[in-house]
Amino acid sequence: MNKRIWMLFSLLFVGVISMNIKTCAAEITETTTEITTETTTEAIQDILPPGNISVEIDNKGYIQLQWDAVLGADKYVIYRRVDHEELTAEYATSKKLKFKDKKVDKGHVYYYSIKAVNATSESAISKEVYKFVEVDKPQVTGTFTKKKKIKLTWDVVPAADEYVVYKQFSSGDYIEVDKTKKNSYKDSYVKSGEYYKYKVAYRIKLNNGKTIEKKSKVCSVYSNLIDPKKKMVALTFDDGPGRYTQEIVDCLKENDARATFYVLGCNINGYKKAMKNAHKIGCEIGNHSYNHKILSTISADDVKTQMKDTDAKIEKVIGEKAVTMRPPGGGVNKTVQEVVGKPVILWSIDTLDWKHRNTQKTISSVMNNVKDGDIILMHDIHEPTKRAALYLIPALKKQGYQLVTVSELAEYRGYKLKKGSIYHSLRKKK
Ligand code: NI
Repeated sequence: MNKRIWMLFSLLFVGVISMNIKTCAAEITETTTEITTETTTEAIQDILPPGNISVEIDNKGYIQLQWDAVLGADKYVIYRRVDHEELTAEYATSKKLKFKDKKVDKGHVYYYSIKAVNATSESAISKEVYKFVEVDKPQVTGTFTKKKKIKLTWDVVPAADEYVVYKQFSSGDYIEVDKTKKNSYKDSYVKSGEYYKYKVAYRIKLNNGKTIEKKSKVCSVYSNLIDPKKKMVALTFDDGPGRYTQEIVDCLKENDARATFYVLGCNINGYKKAMKNAHKIGCEIGNHSYNHKILSTISADDVKTQMKDTDAKIEKVIGEKAVTMRPPGGGVNKTVQEVVGKPVILWSIDTLDWKHRNTQKTISSVMNNVKDGDIILMHDIHEPTKRAALYLIPALKKQGYQLVTVSELAEYRGYKLKKGSIYHSLRKKK
């Protein structure tokens, strides 16, 4: 004890002298350093770093640290680093034997170490502990692209060093097909019309050399623009093409959607381009007679002429005839069925848009009634209908509906459409 006080005094004394006699500074400083080092070494042996550090995540998502008391310690200094950061300055201090870290985000790894401190000395820094704050569920979405590839994308996990893509092969096993730092993957090895299954894992290399790997749930992708397991409806627009057709086509294109346009032969010349564009994005062009004659009131020959003249005009613009037809006013009788030469497509949802010319009513009549396999009747020659369509197209998609043509709906719901047969809807067969 006496010895130690004496040493402290002499230290002070030496310090004072060194400040006064500047000329000899170099020599004296050297001596001082030696004594200081000795004092520090002695202090480390006095107080030990905290042990038994536990690290948990509480129900609020905060990280809770706890450790055993260190004899002679007044407080504890906590060091923190996130992911691959270098150890930096002190992060927090605690007088208790615990510390709650509220500044934590999902998807990161937090590393902690603790030092015990008292008035005269401090311990070494403890062994590092860590906690990975998991993301809710690794979400992977897959889409079949127009280039006939499957594109997977997933949420970024900030701590991830890489992502591993697993694909299911015919054996049923998931085999690693890619390792990437990006959060997307493109699979070109796909045949169309099949389901492909993937899992994506994020891999985190911890600072202690260990690895965390967590796999997503299975992501199943159908390698076609239409997935038969998902809901689908056919929007149909009659009496055009008209001055609003192009805007509806643009909206369909933007939403990766398609519709069927039942056109009148007499309207085609004014809007060839809109009709061509509709066909280009995969829409169906159907026959709605030449000049909206109610077919059930005219002769069989006149029905044939109405159909033939319209088909000729359609073919001139898009290079092919209409596959399906819709009778104006829904007017159909036995004669029409016999001579029309195409499947007769009616509807299961009549928006009555031509009558009320009200955007909200048109939207409601669809959104309140829509079911898988519906054929929805609208008219693209009215502005309120156009506004309704611009709302409905993304809204139906958001509800999980695939917007398909009448012919696609029939195909994916297992119908072989027959000439002269009448269809109101094309629901899944039980
Ligand atoms: Ni009509």
